[in-house]
Amino acid sequence: MKTTLEVGLGKRAYPIHIGRDLSQDLLRTVRALRQDNRPVAVLVDANVREAFGCMLEDIFENAPMLELPSGESTKCFPWLEKACNFLAKQKIDRSGAVFAIGGGVTGDLAGFTAASYLRGVDFYQVPTTLLAMVDSSVGGKTGINLAAGKNLVGAFWQPKAVFCDLAFLDELPAREFSAGMAEVIKYGLLDDVELFEYLERLDRLHSRHAALTGIVRRCCEIKARIVEEDETERAKSGGRALLNLGHTFGHAIEAVAGYGDYLHGEAIAVGMMLAAELSAERDAIEPRDVRRIALLFQSYDLPIRLRNPLPLEALIEAMGRDKKVSAGKLRLVLLEKLGKAYTTGEFEWPKIEQLWRGVGAEDGSVSESRPSSSNE
Ligand SMILES: NC(=O)c1ccc[n+]([C@@H]2O[C@H](COP(=O)([O-])OP(=O)(O)OC[C@H]3O[C@@H](n4cnc5c(N)ncnc54)[C@H](O)[C@@H]3O)[C@@H](O)[C@H]2O)c1
Repeated sequence: MKTTLEVGLGKRAYPIHIGRDLSQDLLRTVRALRQDNRPVAVLVDANVREAFGCMLEDIFENAPMLELPSGESTKCFPWLEKACNFLAKQKIDRSGAVFAIGGGVTGDLAGFTAASYLRGVDFYQVPTTLLAMVDSSVGGKTGINLAAGKNLVGAFWQPKAVFCDLAFLDELPAREFSAGMAEVIKYGLLDDVELFEYLERLDRLHSRHAALTGIVRRCCEIKARIVEEDETERAKSGGRALLNLGHTFGHAIEAVAGYGDYLHGEAIAVGMMLAAELSAERDAIEPRDVRRIALLFQSYDLPIRLRNPLPLEALIEAMGRDKKVSAGKLRLVLLEKLGKAYTTGEFEWPKIEQLWRGVGAEDGSVSESRPSSSNE
């Protein structure tokens, strides 16, 4: 089954194609560009090139291809520079098009390269991880990391099209697939209780599961609608920030544990548990709902608490560095009910500290430099 939906952003609108084996669709796109004498360049994740090299050569023929080392550390200035130099050396002009083939790391770096090179050239997303299909390839956030934090430099630069070819997922390690499931479950929690309940009823999803195309489509639909309403995350409440359910906690775990210890999806699974616990404390959801969320995460081997104790003070400090801190105020994304999230600056730090302890954070003195919540 193949399906297409549109991200309705006016002049920047683009299609998301989803299905198994989209190589002919990609080939048609590449040939159409070439027929218009537009040069094509490819930035590809090293593991993806190794697993799918022959197929990629069939599609892109002799197009120049830059291989990017796999891993978060590739989202950095040196690789941005290498990628821009590569495009210049290949004489990619303003009519050119860049294809990003890989997970979120490749998409974020290639997208920012496309946004920066010659002040912007077209780019196409070919996500090869579940996380990239349901999240990072859609919505136009591109960027790289700084030592001070993840994704601190970047641009909003929408792709011209997204091709989610589920066949790539056949080679994706199971742990990476599960990390992508954390984002899938996130969409159910924040916007679609029916999706959440459907996931509860389904056997464990895998790359060849008959339901996968529909589920990836549903996630992309939700993301597309949210992005259409708040493309550059300016909404004072709700909006694109809702997509960060569990992320303020999750980013803190990633930063304190050291990037790479937890996959992003694993860290946000623990983060979503904390957001759910806090929502239950406010009687927005039932303790029973919190257990259902935990069970669903566990059915994909996702963690629901810290694997090893982490220092509380460092976690709280890392939360304060989150991008959602604006004018010294931290906003959290919580659940109003299963299937509906909201943003709030109203929370109490002692409660947050207690919840962290509950998932295995170690006590330590809490820094005075934490950002204030609106009720402090
Ligand atoms: N731009 C956004 O809106 C957005 C949203 C969410 C996450 N992100 C970013 O996405 C990144 C995480 O993305 P990710 O989880 O896709 O990680 P990733 O790109 O690091 O890929 C995960 C691993 O899977 C390998 N891989 C990729 N596709 C494969 C395939 N088909 N077969 C075998 N191996 C394959 C990669 O080599 C890598 O080792 C983070 O940098 C995060 O900040 C961006």
